[in-house]
Amino acid sequence: MNTQEMVLEKGFYDAVIDPHLDLFAEIDRLKKEKNAVILAHFYQEPDIQDVADYIGDSLGLAQKAKETDADRIVFAGVHFMAETAKILNPTKKVLLPDLKAGCSLADSAPAPLFRLFKEKHPNHIVVSYINCTAEIKALSDIICTSSNAVKIIESIPPDQPIIFAPDKNLGAWINKKTGRDMLLWNGSCMVHEIFSLEKITKLKMRHPNARLIAHPECEDPVLAVADYIGSTTQLLKFSETDSHNEYIVATETGILHQMQQRSPGKTFIPAPPDNSCACNDCPHMKRNTLEKLYLCMQYETPEITMDEPLRLAAKKPMDRMLEISKAAGLIG
Ligand code: 13P
Ligand code: SF4
Repeated sequence: MNTQEMVLEKGFYDAVIDPHLDLFAEIDRLKKEKNAVILAHFYQEPDIQDVADYIGDSLGLAQKAKETDADRIVFAGVHFMAETAKILNPTKKVLLPDLKAGCSLADSAPAPLFRLFKEKHPNHIVVSYINCTAEIKALSDIICTSSNAVKIIESIPPDQPIIFAPDKNLGAWINKKTGRDMLLWNGSCMVHEIFSLEKITKLKMRHPNARLIAHPECEDPVLAVADYIGSTTQLLKFSETDSHNEYIVATETGILHQMQQRSPGKTFIPAPPDNSCACNDCPHMKRNTLEKLYLCMQYETPEITMDEPLRLAAKKPMDRMLEISKAAGLIG
């Protein structure tokens, strides 16, 4: 969103929402009234994390979306995540506060191009990162998240060729960890590619006791100097249990809210981007606001809908992922 759009949007929400409303209390009331559950990703703004019923990474959120018996799932995250909830729990009404909350990684794999790529490699199976559209999921054999990616790949016979999509950085990291040679789709996340190795190195010199913790969507040079690599949930757990007191965090800044809450005595420093903008804030995740969350619950729109044939095709590789994750003890 550019500055003009932001000003217009703020004006709109100021005009339609009574400024005296306590949005936290209103959202709480709507949750009960409508039997709604709010599922939020760690990258959401702190206020949204604080009103959510469950905060998690992509794997945890998918599992919660599948299991919930609430009538309405309000997804405080991005479009592919709300779509995933609909794929797994079609009888529930799935709401997303801002329908434009997309994902650069999901956008980097348009289904028609990916279909052609897949046709060129007929002996490969397709493992796709959950950060992709329902159409890409439908073209895949197994889905993975950053929490279970290594286990998913290890569950596939070593001589079976694999296409991995859409994140080339996560794919390269898995290749390194498992010794595989997966064919990688050339996609990436705009947030995790922005970190500056030079600035991180200088920061490490100024904070010699700080440990660098990074998400595997980061580029290889950053991962090569990281002390720990993992999904958002894994980074959070590490920051809680590790004995150090200072961390440089190479992922989207939203996670720092949970890290700080769970370890109030520790210091968390966002890894610096390669220019002065706030580029390690995901502009898609940050489209959701408390105001939009309130209106979306009040009016039950925007809603995620999906054709049944597409949903069923996309569900198959999702189910496969959940089965493998369960067998590996990654989910309950
Ligand atoms: P996880 O939730 O699997 O850590 O992935 C982070 C992410 O980029 C979500 O968009
Ligand atoms: Fe997509 Fe990256 Fe934003 Fe996650 S952080 S939603 S991968 S653009």
